[in-house]
Amino acid sequence: MIRSYTDYPLKKHHTFGNEVSAKYYFEFTEPEDLPLFLSTNKEWHDLKLLIMGEGSNLLFVDDFPGLIINPNIPGIEIVREDRNNIWLQVGAGVVWDQLVEFAVFHNWGGIENLSLIPGKVGASAVQNIGAYGMEIQDRIESVKGYDLDTEFEYTIEGYECQFAYRDSIFKKLFKNRFIITSVVYKLDKFPEFILHYGDLKAEVQKLGEVNLRNIRQTVIRIRESKLPDPAVVGNAGSFFKNPIVDASLAEDLLDNYPAMSHYPADDGKIKLAAGWLIEQCGWKGFRRGDAGVHDKQALVLINYGNATGREIYDLSEEIKLSVLDKFGVYLELEVNVIGE
Ligand code: FAD
Ligand code: EPU
Repeated sequence: MIRSYTDYPLKKHHTFGNEVSAKYYFEFTEPEDLPLFLSTNKEWHDLKLLIMGEGSNLLFVDDFPGLIINPNIPGIEIVREDRNNIWLQVGAGVVWDQLVEFAVFHNWGGIENLSLIPGKVGASAVQNIGAYGMEIQDRIESVKGYDLDTEFEYTIEGYECQFAYRDSIFKKLFKNRFIITSVVYKLDKFPEFILHYGDLKAEVQKLGEVNLRNIRQTVIRIRESKLPDPAVVGNAGSFFKNPIVDASLAEDLLDNYPAMSHYPADDGKIKLAAGWLIEQCGWKGFRRGDAGVHDKQALVLINYGNATGREIYDLSEEIKLSVLDKFGVYLELEVNVIGE
């Protein structure tokens, strides 16, 4: 199925929920719809492009003047199986948490800690989604899509995707060029549980047996206790990445702030908790007009109703400056800001 619109309102298509529109919007459900659309609408070459899933990691600061492409492709299919593993090919338009629910129902492990992350399967590979000690890069076997530059469809192996913390080749060389149509995930039939994050293990044990269902239920409960539901309050999850700094800077900061949250990262570096840094600068629960900072998680900026994208973006810049000023730490955006 193809849907194609001009001057299309986006309010219901992104979780910040501010009023913006797209000049052109194209959504399709079959991979072969895309080349057909492109060949019959040659003017797309001259337009600014944005590939979009559920819009749960986007902030529009303005109307989008170009073409939005939404590959809303359904389907979960078993493509391979052996004694220990199962490989699922999943359409880019499948709701991420429905895939997690499906896997947990069948007792296939590897994605249960990623329960309740909003968004679609396509973006899981773009963002290398992560939570509670798990990152999806460990489960992605391959990614299939359509390259707008070469006008060919091909498959990229997981090890070619340049995955890193909230990063991948799809945010760099292939940004708004490679339209992901499906992802193959490798799951475990005899799962090993990952429970080292915070007090996850103790919380799961409160439910009795440690199994996929109880891990999923616990992660959902913890998330619901801290993160605002986008259906109720506009937000896009963490607005900034957790900064990864040199050990020497972390040590200096710990001398002054011994209670600072920090974790070991690769290459001897240290990951700091951006939420902690922002809270220390006094922003937690801050509100100006309808733009604000969540009162249970300072890393989440929110739209109470009628904030513009520009107001939320300006607030994020003020927060960035104050963290830089107080701690000498630069915060990188986690959310994709469109139009700035
Ligand atoms: P969109 O926001 O629509 O797009 C995100 C990026 O992917 C954009 O750059 C877009 O161009 C690109 N893209 C989307 N689909 C495709 C495609 N098919 N082909 C090529 N490029 C594409 N994230 C985490 O990692 N961990 C969390 O714990 C987490 N918690 C969240 C909690 C809340 C309440 C919210 C609102 C968000 C949270 N997020 C989290 C962020 C968000 O859910 C993820 O980034 C998610 O993967 C975005 O999916 P989406 O379909 O909404 O993508
Ligand atoms: N913290 C504070 N104050 C706050 C928020 C957090 O002091 O206002 C401290 C906490 O006490 C804790 C530490 O910061 O010591 C980490 O907090 P939390 O466990 O809530 O996780 P986070 O680092 O803030 C990251 C991800 C989330 C993911 C959670 C759980 C990033 C940018 N964010 O948040 O992902 O769900 O860990 O794994 O890495 C997202 O990407 O949108 C997202 C929500």
